[in-house]
Formats: sequence, structure tokens, C-alpha cells
Amino acid sequence: MIILAIETSCDETAVAIVEFKKNKAKVLANVISSQVKAHSKYGGVVPALAARMHLKNMAPVLRRAFKQAGKHTPSASQPTPLKRGIRCIASQSVSLKKGVHFDKNKIDYIAVTKGPGLIPALMVGVGAAKALAYSLNKPLVGVNHLEGHIYANWLTEFEKSIKSKVYKVSKDCKAENDFKLWKPEFPILCLTVSGGHTQLVLMKKDLNYKIIGETVDDAAGEAFDKVAKLLKLSYPGGPLIEKIAKKGDRNKFKFTRPMINSKDYNFSFSGLKTAVLYEVRGFYNGRNEAVPRSYGDYNIQYKADIAASFQQAVIDVLISKTVRAAKKHKVKNVILGGGVSANKELQKQLKEVINKEIPNTKYQIPISNLSTDNALMIAIAAHYNIIGGKKIGSWQSVKADANLKLR
Ligand code: KG4
Ligand code: ZN
Repeated sequence: MIILAIETSCDETAVAIVEFKKNKAKVLANVISSQVKAHSKYGGVVPALAARMHLKNMAPVLRRAFKQAGKHTPSASQPTPLKRGIRCIASQSVSLKKGVHFDKNKIDYIAVTKGPGLIPALMVGVGAAKALAYSLNKPLVGVNHLEGHIYANWLTEFEKSIKSKVYKVSKDCKAENDFKLWKPEFPILCLTVSGGHTQLVLMKKDLNYKIIGETVDDAAGEAFDKVAKLLKLSYPGGPLIEKIAKKGDRNKFKFTRPMINSKDYNFSFSGLKTAVLYEVRGFYNGRNEAVPRSYGDYNIQYKADIAASFQQAVIDVLISKTVRAAKKHKVKNVILGGGVSANKELQKQLKEVINKEIPNTKYQIPISNLSTDNALMIAIAAHYNIIGGKKIGSWQSVKADANLKLR
């Protein structure tokens, strides 16, 4: 089964083409065009700009994906070479110059992120997916973005028998990318931590989700981005905070750990963000300096200490709730998903606590580059929806929904 998946829920225009065979997945194409540069000057994603850029990038990203896929699966009928001077326009044949041709009719399903996310951005992806599904006469599968982040974990080891080298899923897949699909033992607990969501999801079987906790205000990634802004770092803040935190002292500032002792599994990060704001402005812990610090009026070490102390506060809360929920629900696996799960310190510390406190529970994280937004995870989630017998309607029935719930 070959699935072409499209992801445009936020600021990445992404397309993946994946061939699924029994418990294997061959990544034929995985293309991501990031808009980070365009949004960074605004300190966050501007929805209307995101949509405009998705519109601009969609066709080139699709074309590139077809070109990549053509290298893996050249069709029997190669296109007739064009005469010199005639420009190649995207049609059934791609990269005519090199004679590489991916037969779009080999695609069995089109999949697309239908929500949650920014509505103008989602609508571009859904529109493109509908046009493809209609023109190729293929079924269209609408996928929940959060389900994609969860199912990113299902793409596991590289099939070593095919190539001894270990390949990562790079933004631009070039190698033969065969992966094994995970066969997990349930129940699974997934901590999804992204720019828009922070959730603890309990899965008793495939496609079965129970949200047992979520943020009551800001998402963890949002807090990283806002604190980065306070420290005059650019967008997205998560990776930059992680980078400078390496040189900082995580115990320097005793920031609040919101809701760490609450009996539920919910999270809150807005108070932590405010605590950082008060510190950098010079009004923290009752200390009221005569002249509040102004932005940028602090040195590199100060910023590194703030970043490390803030990051540790987020990690402490995430780990505490996750491990408590894992114990309560006696889960067999704890997995991570979403952009914040790319944070190496979070990965490392969670692993250490799980090994120490619940050694019989396994721990898994998405392979490199599948934590942040991509279309490969959407293809994987679509695959499980299809084989799991979820009802797939006509392409007309798929609608973008900014507030789509995971169920
Ligand atoms: O999943 P994602 O790519 O998009 C959404 O679905 O929101 O997550 C993006 C978020 C951003 O807030 C970004 O700052 C954060 O993930 N992020 C990180 C790291 N890499 C990305 N946060 C902490 N550490 C990182 N290494
Ligand atoms: Zn995401």
C-alpha cells in the first residue's frame, strides 16, 4: 500500500510518500519545507503568512517528493525526453531531465492533516489533498495531527539486512529507507509535547486514545518559545533554549513547578513563564530592584542559567506526571511525541527516571527528525487508520478543523 501524506498544520509544508508492506515501511519520499525564517522576525507563527507560504510551497514540495519517490520506484514506462529548451511543467512525469518518473497511479491513498492547527494553514493542505484525491481518483484519509505525533513512534529500526548502514530519516531522504513498524505491547502512555499541545494519552490498543491529562493554559513548546522571546532568542525557541541551557546552571533560579503536586495529570506553564518574566525584569521572589532590568541587559551566563533553570522546571513537571500516570495505569510502554520531545535533556532524564522507578516499563522516542512536524508521521497514522478499519469517506467529507479532538 502506497500513501502520499500532506502536513500543513503550522509552519512546515511537508509531503511524504511511503510504501507499507506487512510490518515494513519504505520511505519513498520525505520532504519538509520550513517557514521558520519568515516567522522568526515576528517571534512566532503568523497564521495568514503561514497559509500564503504553504500555497507558494505546496507544488514545489509535491514535485520534489515525486522526484524522490521516482528514484526508488521508476515506472516501466519512462517519459519521452523533452526537446532542448522546452521547460518541464509538473505533470505525471517529474524530473524529465533525468528520466526519473514516479507513476502517481501507484498511490493507493492520499492522507492529510485535517486538524488541530491553524485553520488557514490546514485549509491549504486539505485543499491540495482533495485536488489530488479527486484528480487521481484515490480515497482521502483525514488524520489528526496529534495522532501523527503518537504514531511517529511506530517507525522504528532500520531494516539492517537491506543495508548495513543506519540511516536516519533526513529532511531530504536519499537512501533506501526501509524501517520496521513497531509491534508494541499495550497499554501505552504517550506524552505529547508540542507548540500547541501538552497531553498525556493512554492507549489500550491501536487507535484508542484516552486523554488523561493536558495543559490548562500554555503548551510546553509555547512556554519554551515565549521564554526564548524574553531572552531575545529567535523563533522557535525550544532548540535555542536547549542549546544555551547546556552552559547554564539548572539550580541557579528556583522557578515554580506549576501543578507538580496536583493529584490530576494536568499541566500548567503560564505561571512558570511569568516567573521567568519577573526574574528577567528584576521583580522575582519579592526582590524589587530599584531599576528593573531592561531587555538585553544581561550577559550570556545569566541567559544560560535562566534557560537551564526554566528547562529543568518544565522537565521536572513533565517527568513527575508522566511517571506517576505510568505507574497508576501499569503501562508497558512510555512514548514521547511532538516538537518538545526532540529535547535531549528531557529524553535523557525521563529515561533515567523510568529505568529507576518502573524498570519493567519500556521507553521509546521518535527516531531523529520525527519529533517535530513532518508528513511521514501522518502517513504512518493514516496506514493504521486504514488497516484498523476506520471509516474512510469520500474526499468531499474531509474538512479542516482547527480544534479537532483526539478520539
Ligand atoms: O510538534 P511541533 O513541531 O509543532 C506543533 O505541533 O506545535 O512542535 C514545535 C514546538 C515549538 O514550540 C518548539 O519550540 C518546540 O516544539 N521544540 C523544542 C525543541 N525542538 C522543538 N522544545 C524544546 N527543546 C527542543 N529541542
Ligand atoms: Zn506538531
